[in-house]
Amino acid sequence: MTRKKEKKLSPLMVQYQTIKKQFPDEILFFRMGDFYEMMYEDAIAASAALGITLTKRGRGTVSEAPMCGVPFHAADGYIAKMIRKGFRVAICEQVEDPKATKGLVKREVVKVITPGTVLDEQCLEGKEFQYLVSLVQDERHIGLAFLEFSTGRFEVIELNGPDRLIEAGDLLVTRDPVEILIPEETDLSWLDPGFLQKRCKTEKEAWRFSYDYARTTLLDHFKAISLAGFGLEKSTWAVRAAGGALHYVQSTQKGEAKHIQDLKVLQKSDHMVLDGTTLRNLEVVRSLFDGNRTESLLGQIDMTMTAMGGRLLKEWLLRPLIDVEAIRSRQAFVTSYLNATIARQEMREILKKVPDLDRQNSKLAMGSINPRELLGIGLSLKKIPEIVELMDEIVPDRYQINDQDLSHLWQLCETIDQQLVTDPPTHTRNGGVLARGVNQELDELRSIRKDSRSTLAELEAREREATGISKLKVQYNKVFGYYIEVSKIHSSKVPAHYVRKQTLVNSERYITDELKTYEEKILGAEEKILVLEDQLYRQLVAQCQASLNTLRKWALVLALVDVHGALAELAAQKNYCLPEMSDGDALVIKDGRHPVVESLGSDPFIANDTFLNTGSDRLNIITGPNMGGKSTYLRQVALIVLLAQAGSYVPATSAEIGVVDRIFTRVGASDHLARGQSTFMVEMTETANILHHATKNSLIILDEIGRGTSTFDGLAIAWSTAEYIHDSHRIGAKTLFATHYHEMTELEKLCEGVVNRNITVREWKNDIIFLRRIEKGSADQSYGVHVGQLAGLPKAVVRRAREILHNLEKNELDTTGNPRFARRSADTQPQEAEQLSLFPEWNTPFLDELKELDLDNLTPRQALNLLYDWKEQL
Ligand SMILES: Nc1ncnc2c1ncn2[C@@H]1O[C@H](COP(=O)(O)OP(=O)(O)OP(=O)(O)O)[C@@H](O)[C@H]1O
Ligand SMILES: [Mg+2]
Repeated sequence: MTRKKEKKLSPLMVQYQTIKKQFPDEILFFRMGDFYEMMYEDAIAASAALGITLTKRGRGTVSEAPMCGVPFHAADGYIAKMIRKGFRVAICEQVEDPKATKGLVKREVVKVITPGTVLDEQCLEGKEFQYLVSLVQDERHIGLAFLEFSTGRFEVIELNGPDRLIEAGDLLVTRDPVEILIPEETDLSWLDPGFLQKRCKTEKEAWRFSYDYARTTLLDHFKAISLAGFGLEKSTWAVRAAGGALHYVQSTQKGEAKHIQDLKVLQKSDHMVLDGTTLRNLEVVRSLFDGNRTESLLGQIDMTMTAMGGRLLKEWLLRPLIDVEAIRSRQAFVTSYLNATIARQEMREILKKVPDLDRQNSKLAMGSINPRELLGIGLSLKKIPEIVELMDEIVPDRYQINDQDLSHLWQLCETIDQQLVTDPPTHTRNGGVLARGVNQELDELRSIRKDSRSTLAELEAREREATGISKLKVQYNKVFGYYIEVSKIHSSKVPAHYVRKQTLVNSERYITDELKTYEEKILGAEEKILVLEDQLYRQLVAQCQASLNTLRKWALVLALVDVHGALAELAAQKNYCLPEMSDGDALVIKDGRHPVVESLGSDPFIANDTFLNTGSDRLNIITGPNMGGKSTYLRQVALIVLLAQAGSYVPATSAEIGVVDRIFTRVGASDHLARGQSTFMVEMTETANILHHATKNSLIILDEIGRGTSTFDGLAIAWSTAEYIHDSHRIGAKTLFATHYHEMTELEKLCEGVVNRNITVREWKNDIIFLRRIEKGSADQSYGVHVGQLAGLPKAVVRRAREILHNLEKNELDTTGNPRFARRSADTQPQEAEQLSLFPEWNTPFLDELKELDLDNLTPRQALNLLYDWKEQL
């Protein structure tokens, strides 16, 4: 008999298996009374991720399963931990009251939480975005939809050109999504595997991304009849990606994602393009060394006071502007804040206490806001009069907010203030949320509860007196409700109308009719209070939801106020200057500094000038010793341009900046072994990308191109790359080229737009002093041998090295003064160069000799000798 039973799974386990089947890729949090339990593989994964004990349930039966559990009231923290580790969690609740049910309680998954669809603060970084990206593709198209679920921001783009994979890769690196949603069987081999490894990859059935389904999902959600208003009518792939993303979040939330109110089409040409390589090399939001934020540009310049401001500033850095007027408008605001020193400080103090209104708004829209968070919104609205007063003092206009909006928000603030208690709990399940005076019925019930409590105390006193049992107690437990407890010694004194309910070791428990009546009254009131409070709280939330649009506007205003104020604070504290922006080609910086090295470096920072344009100063060849500061200088120039185009002041004493369309960088060595690329291969791929995509309006930073191969190959590539960039009919962009190939400085003689600069050092008693100053001209020495000597190379090696160096330097140039290796054959001549000088080879010393020759008076012998001479010189 028992054997037969054991062959079958218990009904509970059957229920578990049925639900789990629908959520194979999620960790199932299976509610069992006061606990969430995880089973089988989920238990193994969760116990490891959460550091909790793994046990077994149903030992010795067919239902035996590895199991671990967490108490339901502490579940949020555990869920957050799972999400941060990249898991998806499905929350399965008991959807029936176990007390009212016979047999197995019904259970259902009520929501799925994933890294890209989470709203809980414990899972979110204040100043960071938490993007979900949905990606659909075929051989010629890519649709990408970016959804920042916590703030409801939703953007989409379709890429069709031959560079679509590179562009998509760059966008993905910039947005840095936490979760990637794709149709099943999508081939992502074109993406860096390292990029994928760190993120949660979610695959869903392809039909969810089909055009018709996606279109309907979008139309239904936005209550629109056509997608034309979104500019998406012809963008099949964008629609598929966006619809797929929306459908996904709707299904994880088991309902509407009401806070997503708009879908914006990203334009490629709106902003300066910063590709993934450049972002990394310039350490814009993360350091190269260990990926932290502190040592990045953002980490060093972020003086925002709110999470909203922090996110907006990050966005400005990742997407600098290219429109001069738009940049100037940002600058004007920053300048206003800079000039209003005291008001700015006051504003910053106020902002310090403002919560993340953006994310609270999303929770409000979803209806999942808790009472304490709602009070937070109210409290931040209380600051409106002060903020507006300061705003009026600092800036000429009030951003996009008008008086009507403000009075609306003020009313909302009063409503929240009146309706909530001053210190509400984080959930509604135990009541205590609504203030007195909000609802008459609630007040009455509460006073019944209160009175009843004092009545019980009275009853206890009365019974003690009547029975003479001084230790008689009126108590409560869940099973029996209210009862009178008397210790056994006094049992004989208990009156006849006491009805015995329970006997314990030392005491007896009784009830009386009077107690029963009170109990009903109290418990009835308690239950009604909870129901009523919940209902009233929902009404309040609904009332606040009606103001969401204005709340959103206000959140944006606060973010702008914060960023403008923070950039002004930065300029003031770090002595930055206002760059003069133009549509021209000049890039002139006086006393420029590196914003990160200047703050974190141990030595005082030496400022340097920059002078570049697309004419006679378009390519700087920068030489100088190791550790001289070449790389620092290159990056500093790029960062100054980036900061300027983001709307910020810049670390310099003055700057004139012609807007650039793109900053390209090729810096240092990095391997992509996982992608099957060697150091040199990566270097060449990145260089190729620059040569294919740079325009005359770009800024190019090349740090030691060609270092990763043999000297001759390296120099050859460095040289030809520089020439190619320099030639204005090809690229002709402003370029800084740092190199240890001193031969490269000869380019100055050959190319009209090349200017040599070097980082100066001074020799002092066998030592080198780094002056770190950039000067015109080339480094006259390499200092490599010198550094080798300092490093302790054997004397013989140093001596021999000097000798070889001397020989090499002597033989570098040909008789014409040009570097020997720079000679060209006819078919590599650039067209323009040909126009400038048709016969450059004739421009030699013996040309003059030839011109002056008196041919009529020359003997054949003399002529032959001359020919021999000339031939030799060649
Ligand atoms: N202008 C400066 N003022 C003060 N310190 C500087 C300056 N420039 C660079 N440094 C310091 O010098 C260090 C080395 O600079 P950097 O890496 O730019 O040299 P480099 O010329 O590129 O050397 P290498 O040829 O070896 O690549 C930096 O880490 C920084 O701490
Ligand atoms: Mg360097």
